[in-house]
Amino acid sequence: MSNAPPDYDLIIVGSGIAGLYAAIKAREVGLSVLLVTKSSIEEASTRYAQGGIAAAVGVGDSPEKHLDDTLKAGAGLVDEAAARILCSEAASRIADLARFGVQFDSIDGQVNLGHEGAHSQPRILHARGDGTGLEIETSLSRLAQEKLEIRENTIPKKILLEPDSTGNKLAVGIESHNTLTGITESIYSRHVMLATGGAGQIYKVTTNPQVSTGDGVALGYNAGAVVTDMEFVQFHPTALVLPDRPVFLISEALRGDGAQLLNNLGERFMSRYDKLLELAPRDIVARAIVEESINTDKDHVWLDITTKTTEKSKEWLFARFPQISSVCKTAGIDISKDLIPVSPAAHYLMGGLVTNTYGETSVPGLFAIGETACTGVHGANRLASNSLLETVIFSHRAIDQIISPKTTEIGTDPVQTPYSIPFISSNQAETILTASEIKKEIQNIMWAHAGVIRRRDGLEFTRLKLEQLARNGSNTVEISDYETQSLLTVSRLMIDAALRRTESRGSHFREDFATSDDKWKTHIHYQIA
Ligand code: SIN
Repeated sequence: MSNAPPDYDLIIVGSGIAGLYAAIKAREVGLSVLLVTKSSIEEASTRYAQGGIAAAVGVGDSPEKHLDDTLKAGAGLVDEAAARILCSEAASRIADLARFGVQFDSIDGQVNLGHEGAHSQPRILHARGDGTGLEIETSLSRLAQEKLEIRENTIPKKILLEPDSTGNKLAVGIESHNTLTGITESIYSRHVMLATGGAGQIYKVTTNPQVSTGDGVALGYNAGAVVTDMEFVQFHPTALVLPDRPVFLISEALRGDGAQLLNNLGERFMSRYDKLLELAPRDIVARAIVEESINTDKDHVWLDITTKTTEKSKEWLFARFPQISSVCKTAGIDISKDLIPVSPAAHYLMGGLVTNTYGETSVPGLFAIGETACTGVHGANRLASNSLLETVIFSHRAIDQIISPKTTEIGTDPVQTPYSIPFISSNQAETILTASEIKKEIQNIMWAHAGVIRRRDGLEFTRLKLEQLARNGSNTVEISDYETQSLLTVSRLMIDAALRRTESRGSHFREDFATSDDKWKTHIHYQIA
């Protein structure tokens, strides 16, 4: 870095709720901020979130009850201190979102709370019915466009690092590449914050948009940050998966409003799997659906939210679920009278860059927020609608840490000796595959062998195949190559962790180790060698 002052106080990478909220907060407290996004400002997985945002704001609810549900869902791996912060600071951050223009649905001036799986209380705030993510993304991006310097179509090729006075590597900016102009440049800043969302695109069937390629986790890992919990991927139980149509999420909120799951024999089956029936934790419902589908030789079961079953009127259903009813309609399904075919889809990455409760990674100056981070609040299985909440809670705290730094440890659990995945340079093979060929291969093998149900032989096969693909790839400035490299890094970390965890816990189910084992009540960490 030159001796000249950095260009910005803060560079934020990513424009979902985490990045936008952090950027708006940072501007409010007077920081100079550059927000970069590889696509357009409004394209992030936030806009596809339907259910809502959890907060213990209802009569009879409390942060303690919310914490209890979060701990139970996380299957023994939740960081309790972080989750306590998540639940107790929720109301203040909801107030921030309202101040930023987000209009939550209400009835007679009282916020209208929905119910979702594994919550003991109705505590899900939603907006525009099932359009919560869209409302948040639109409100925040409108504000961001007024207040922020934004560079769209910009990929951060790498985090720039420099030694500090003690020789430790410090994040000092990014090397960015504009995919429209072709210009590559170094941009310096006092802090870098990764908010690139999840990595659902490593799977063939996912609720995540095309942009969810795990770039933040890959960038952080390559910069030396510690990564953890990569084996824990949440599969949403109910997606509409039809040929020649994008996979579409069918929100858990439908089950919160009385929708029932039926197998292909017309039987309501969840009582065989959990006393919470359709509102059991997502991992249990997802596995139950896979089992029932296999038993009946089909690839789906059915969701019944018809007026007959739920005793809701057609008008009520269409107003509460405007997006779902209209997308289903385009597929010839009238949700008020027809059953919806549903099956699981990759939905959320619990793992990511390890952060403390102020969003700091193990690399000084480098922060991670939202799905890119692993704050520890989700453990082995995220409680429904805690993800949007996590983004605002820890983005707020990260900005606070920049303004008034506090001395903290990284995470409350001791970091086990980290593993690393072998470095493989691209362009090594005789056949160089195109980025889209590699992406398709990754998606197919990850879905087949690292999905809802996993086994050693399939994971081993996938590990070797991914290594071969890594040798087959090329590492140019093209966005497709960049994304493919991210997908490869993330899926290789995931497979390695899934092989090492020889038990089943939360979302990680190993057919060959079908029960949980207390010796595995711990996290698996990675750091580049
Ligand atoms: C849903 O609406 O079911 C998804 C919400 C979430 O992932 O928490």
